[in-house]
Amino acid sequence: MTAKYAAVKPKRVKMRGENVTVFYGNKQALHGVTLDIAANKVTALIGPSGCGKSTFLRCLNRMNDTIEGARVEGVITLDGEDIYAPDIDVVELRARVGMVFQRPNPFPKSIYDNVAYGPRIHGLTKNRAELDEIVEKSLKSAGLFDEVKDRLHDAGTGLSGGQQQRLCIARAIAVSPEVILMDEPCSALDPIATARIEELIDDLRKNYTIAIVTHSMQQAARVSQYTAMFHLGSLVEMGETKIIFTSPKERRTQDYITGRFG
Ligand SMILES: Nc1ncnc2c1ncn2[C@@H]1O[C@H](COP(=O)(O)OP(=O)(O)OP(=O)(O)O)[C@@H](O)[C@H]1O
Ligand SMILES: [Mg+2]
Repeated sequence: MTAKYAAVKPKRVKMRGENVTVFYGNKQALHGVTLDIAANKVTALIGPSGCGKSTFLRCLNRMNDTIEGARVEGVITLDGEDIYAPDIDVVELRARVGMVFQRPNPFPKSIYDNVAYGPRIHGLTKNRAELDEIVEKSLKSAGLFDEVKDRLHDAGTGLSGGQQQRLCIARAIAVSPEVILMDEPCSALDPIATARIEELIDDLRKNYTIAIVTHSMQQAARVSQYTAMFHLGSLVEMGETKIIFTSPKERRTQDYITGRFG
């Protein structure tokens, strides 16, 4: 089964997966997926539960390395560089390709220390003033600073769900990533918190490349410029979001976006 591009391929490619195949033990979760992630755009990964969206996303920063029995084949590049090459420093890779998860997962530390964590372990700052500056800038980029500026040393876990998720975004941003991966970042949030995150995603793409997994067709249509449709571990088609949502090439995409399955 070959995946089809429903529209022009992205012009500037930040990450590329070529023939990506993943096994968990004997179980094959991805079947030769070839997909480009366009630079400074939002790419939405959609498809029914279990189709391999999270698996593909995790290949992009080698989070599958942490899953026992997971095996990744194929080639994945970041700016043309093979991220599975033997000389790749995985910690550095994950700083360049950050991740935000489904459930907000702040560390049991203060708001400040959550954001300062990455810059500290990567030795990005020379002194406290520089660290303060990164923390403030990251919280501002995540649209959270005004709400927390008077309680930076309170626990991150004391924030609301939506605030916690923005804190996690600030934490991801603090190490100046190039790509941010988001796996259903709004699924635990109410509509207002979701709207804030969606606005934020639109803002962030000026500086970052974003890949987002979502079950909400409305969200995919609102936030993304490209959409990739997965089914049963394969890429069904990928193209400009407005085309995928109005005239997809594949029947399965049409059926999925109109709610006929999944
Ligand atoms: N850690 C794991 N061990 C074994 N099998 C796994 C593991 N993670 C995922 N799988 C299997 O791989 C397939 C793809 O799963 P994946 O989580 O990538 O799907 P998904 O599209 O993200 O689904 P959802 O929308 O429900 O999050 C599924 O069949 C799933 O059961
Ligand atoms: Mg998933």
